[in-house]
Parts: sequence; structure tokens; C-alpha cells
Amino acid sequence: MPVINRLADFHTEMTAWRQDLHAHPELAFEEHRTAAFVADKLTEFGLEVYRGVGVTGVVGLLRGQGNAPRHLGLRADMDALPLQEANTFAHASKHPGKMHACGHDGHTSMLLGAAKYLAETRNFDGTVAFIFQPAEEGRAGAKVMMDDGLFDRFPCDQVYGVHNWPELPVGEIAVRPGPIMAAADTFDIEIRGHGAHAAMPHHGIDPIVVAAQIVLAAQALISRETSPLDNAVLSITTIHAGTADNIVPSHATLGGTVRTFDAAVRDRLEQRMAALVKSVAAGFGATADFTFHRGYPATVNHAAEADLARQVAAQVVGEERVRTNVAPCMGAEDFSFMLNQRPGAYVWIGQGSGSGDCMVHHPRYDFNDAILPIGASYFAALTERLLPRQS
Ligand code: NI
Repeated sequence: MPVINRLADFHTEMTAWRQDLHAHPELAFEEHRTAAFVADKLTEFGLEVYRGVGVTGVVGLLRGQGNAPRHLGLRADMDALPLQEANTFAHASKHPGKMHACGHDGHTSMLLGAAKYLAETRNFDGTVAFIFQPAEEGRAGAKVMMDDGLFDRFPCDQVYGVHNWPELPVGEIAVRPGPIMAAADTFDIEIRGHGAHAAMPHHGIDPIVVAAQIVLAAQALISRETSPLDNAVLSITTIHAGTADNIVPSHATLGGTVRTFDAAVRDRLEQRMAALVKSVAAGFGATADFTFHRGYPATVNHAAEADLARQVAAQVVGEERVRTNVAPCMGAEDFSFMLNQRPGAYVWIGQGSGSGDCMVHHPRYDFNDAILPIGASYFAALTERLLPRQS
């Protein structure tokens, strides 16, 4: 079974939805028009619709034929980015400084297409929760929905998500077991020394010298303490101190980011950075505070569910167009919070370079409408596969 015929019939309609959403981008937790659009469509298809789950999140429930106590969660993200669109086509953003530059307009339209098809056919036995989340871009909308009782109110035995991927050609789907996106954490370091006249530094404790030692020492946490077979990045990206060339300042601040795929590596880097910062500062008679801010965890596909996703992807695009050997991406994704609580998988759907020939988050990016039936078929086929009717 390639792309589901009935979903190919919806291609024009899905394209119209997608381009309408593209023209009306909304930022994190402000997706009021988008949420209303989604809720209206789901209602029209005959789903039970729940609004305001996690501020602007929407959940549509659809029961198949039969009474199997099986629950599947399918998730799409709805938010746009604070970016001025450079495209000039008819469906370009009508909202200055806001743009669907990550294709969440496409994800939403694909999941709506699957909902319409499944509501019409109901060729499955169980319940599907169609999860339309807000605020994927940096505000953890997935977690906000979960904190608002998502999985208690709408049980999900498994969860599946997708992202369009410009680095893969149209018609290919990539899925791998284990990590596929990184954890993205940040940190702040505040060093307190003792101010002095720059001509008489021995009267003070120079926090700039301490900061420089911390920058260098931190490199060893990756190069000497992290296994060469693990992946981790530690970048110190800000350093601020001082006001004049004749003053040793009293304090300095540093900041940066840590990216990891493995929870144990992440935990260890947090602990080791805290210990190193304090001990380096103490070695110079200074003190330092270290604050680690946990962002999105790594997106880690569950092995059995990733294999199932691979089989369903092969059903839709053909075995030879499913890639399982892709390298994970150092970017982050808040579907990770869902995968930390429920088994499931997250796949990339190739969309080619598209009209703008660029990666996501670029002002010329546009979701490629050619892949709408592929993504919708994947969601639909996943449902019929995971919630089969008893014969
Ligand atoms: Ni995205």
C-alpha cells in the first residue's frame, strides 16, 4: 500500500488548510486562530473535541469500530517562529515578524488529513487521541499539555510524532531507534572575586583570571572525561566583566549551552561542571555560583516502536525509501517529554529543499505540500496497524 488513495483525494484540501495556516502564523501559546481552525475541522469530521488543554492545545478523540481498550496518541505541533518571512508567494505570512518557518503548519495539516480519513473509514478498533500542541519552539508546549493532565484525561498507550526534514528527499522517511534529537540545556556561572586598582592587583582577587581558567578547564569535561563514543557539546557563549582599563572588577559572569543524547552523560556533565566551577574559583580565593537550566531532554525513540514506525513507513513509501542509518540531530524537540513517559517514535519525513532551497528556521523556508499525503498516510496507516480490527 503506497499513499492511501483516499488521502491523495484530500491533497487539494490539505494544501488549502496548510497555506491558510502558513498565512496566519501564531507564536507560542497565542495559537488561538490555529486552535479554533483545528477544533472546527475536528468537530466537522465528527470527533469529540477538547480545547484549552495546555493553554491553546487541542485534543480530538476518535473511537473506531469495536471496544478494544487500546489508546493511541498522534501528535502535531501548531506554533510558528518570531521571524520575518522573506517569501512573496500568495500564502506568505500576513503577520509581520511571525512565520511558519519550521513546517508546523504542514504537521498540523497532515494530522488533520489523517483525522478526516480515519473518521470517515473507522477501519480500526480502539481510540485515537489527536494531539495538537502549542509552543514547540522553546516553550515546551508538549510538557505544558502533559502538566495539564493530557495522558490522564486522554490515555495513550503509545505516542507518535513526525517532523518534515529538508535534508531528505521527498518520498523518504527516516527513523532510528534510540536518540534522534539532543537535550538542550543552558548554564550561568557567576564568579565573585574582589575588586582592586588594576595597577595593584595583589589587593584583589581577579574574577577575569578565574573566568579564563574555568573556560579552559571546562573543555576537559568533554575531551578528557566524556567517552569518545558518546556525543556531547559544551559551548561557553557569553563572558561579561569589567567597566574600565584601570579597575580589576569584583565579579564576572559566563553562560553557555550543553547538548547531549544520553541522560547519564547529561547528569554527569551537570554535576562535574558544578564541582569544577566551584573548585577552580576556590583555587584562586574566589567563589562561584553555577546554575544549570534543563531545557528539552533528548528525543529518544523506543526500539520496538521505532521498528514499527519503520514498517509502517515502508508500507507508505516503500522499503527502499526508509532510512534507518541517519545520524541524530543536535537540535532539540519537545516531543521528547512525551517519549519519556510513553513508548513511541518520532520520524523525519523528507521534504527536499523545497521552493526556498533552505533548512527549517530560514526566512525563505516553506513546507512542501507535496508531502501532505505521505505524512497523513503514515499517521493513518499507523492507526490501522496498531489498532487492528478483530476479524
Ligand atoms: Ni519544528
